[in-house]
This record gives sequence, structure tokens and C-alpha cells, in this order.
Amino acid sequence: MGNTGITIQPISPILGAEISGVNLAKPLDDETFEAIHGALMQHLAIFFRDQEITMEQHKDFGRLFGDLHVHPAAPAPAGHPEILVIHADENSKRVAGHAWHSDVSCDAEPPMGSILYLKTVPSVGGDTMFANMYAAYEALSAGMQKYLSGLTAIHGSEHVYRGRYGQTENLRDGDYPESEHPIVRSHPVTGRKCLFVNSSFTTRIKGVSRGESKAILEFLYDHVRTPEFHCRFNWQANSIAFWDNRCAQHHALWDYYPEVRHGYRVTIQGDRPYQ
Ligand code: SIN
Repeated sequence: MGNTGITIQPISPILGAEISGVNLAKPLDDETFEAIHGALMQHLAIFFRDQEITMEQHKDFGRLFGDLHVHPAAPAPAGHPEILVIHADENSKRVAGHAWHSDVSCDAEPPMGSILYLKTVPSVGGDTMFANMYAAYEALSAGMQKYLSGLTAIHGSEHVYRGRYGQTENLRDGDYPESEHPIVRSHPVTGRKCLFVNSSFTTRIKGVSRGESKAILEFLYDHVRTPEFHCRFNWQANSIAFWDNRCAQHHALWDYYPEVRHGYRVTIQGDRPYQ
């Protein structure tokens, strides 16, 4: 327990920590904000339990960390363009985030972080897994780190969003975003290098043959699946998960069909990745 009255308890040695002793429905003093921000920088994904927050309070919490991001394709609740609804039930054919990814990495300035608040959870299952991309980068051989450090990759979105959200007339930018990012990025706060390709959005490495791009990306996606890079968050109703998309990936498990899992995500705008 620190001066702020909050406690930070790691849930695994590699990433993830549960924070208690804070009510996110209330404005945070500077010391509490700094403690939460510090925990996010240290643990990459942080979790809160038993929170009762409105959409406005959810957005207010997000705005402490930056401008809010508007999703390029997903419909939003009326009056809340910055809210993404996360929902699965017996009629779902797919669910959001059901593969390793960093949110909306197809944007030129991909989200810094995402804050997911689940109101309804299945009786069992529906965990979210997180993976540490500093650790993934650092575990590569020096030769592979050097090879990747000069390369960029294309992150597309039409293949992700068209089937899921349908109509193109509702797109934020009138088209599906696609961006080029360095494969190894430096975190703007910590300065540490992290791996920044993901199996949902990254489509190819620029400037190499199709075969080389496919082989290297498959190797990297397999590398991200290393269990020692992971933690796993078990939701309860009214839990919140807040992750740093710049240095962590996540994967929502869909092992609870046909049960309902429902909540809301506020996403925080990031900056252009640089090496
Ligand atoms: C997502 O934001 O990718 C969804 C995560 C989840 O539902 O656990």
C-alpha cells in the first residue's frame, strides 16, 4: 500500500498487475494518476475489479491518458463515438480480438492504450491473454534483431473489418485504413524497443520477397505465442483491463459460446511509431 492508498499486485512475472484501492468513477488526484500510469508502464496491462462507471466516467478516465480514439469501422452507441461495444452471444459468428493483435495497428497513429470494461461475463471462460512485446523483441537473436531493425511492415484492415462490420459508408475515413510501421518500435515513454507486428493486421514486410515476408512474419507470430511472454486475465462482471498497445498484444478467448460476454472499450489515441 503506497501513499495513494492503492495496491499493485503483479499477476505474472512477465506482465499484468491488478490494482486495488481506487474508484475510477471519481476524479483521480495527481498522485493516484501517476501511480496508475507508472503501473501501466511497468506492467503493460493493468486490471481493476468491482468498478461501477458510466460511459462518461469511462471516457473521462481515458482522457487522463490522451485524446480518445474513434474506431475506423465499428458502429458506436448513439452520442458516444469514442466507445467500442464488445459483445458476443449465441448469434455471434465471430468476436472482436479473437487473435493476437495490437488494437487498430492499421491506423497511421495507432492507439496508445485501450480500456475495456466488461459488464456481463460468461459463467466460465472468456479470459483475455496478453503478451509482452519487449520480452518478445529481447528474446530474439542479435542477428534477427539487426535484420528486423531496418524493416517496415504494412498493417491493413479491410480483411479484418469488412466481414465484421459491413457497410463502407460508415467508415471513419471513407476507406479501410492501411499504414506502414517499423517492425521494431521504440516505446515513446520507456525508450525500450518492442516488436510491432501482429497476426491480425500485419499483411507483409516491405521491400522483401513475398516468400521471405511470409516466412519471417509466421516465425514472429509463432514467437509471440511463446507462453512465457504471456499473462491471462480472468474477468468478473465490472472488471476493467487497461493495456498499452505499443508494447503489449492481446488475444480474447472465445471458449464460452453460446454465453453472453458484453462491455465497452475506450481507446486512447497514440502517436506514429518510430524506430
Ligand atoms: C479487444 O479489444 O481486442 C477485445 C478484447 C476482449 O474482448 O477481451
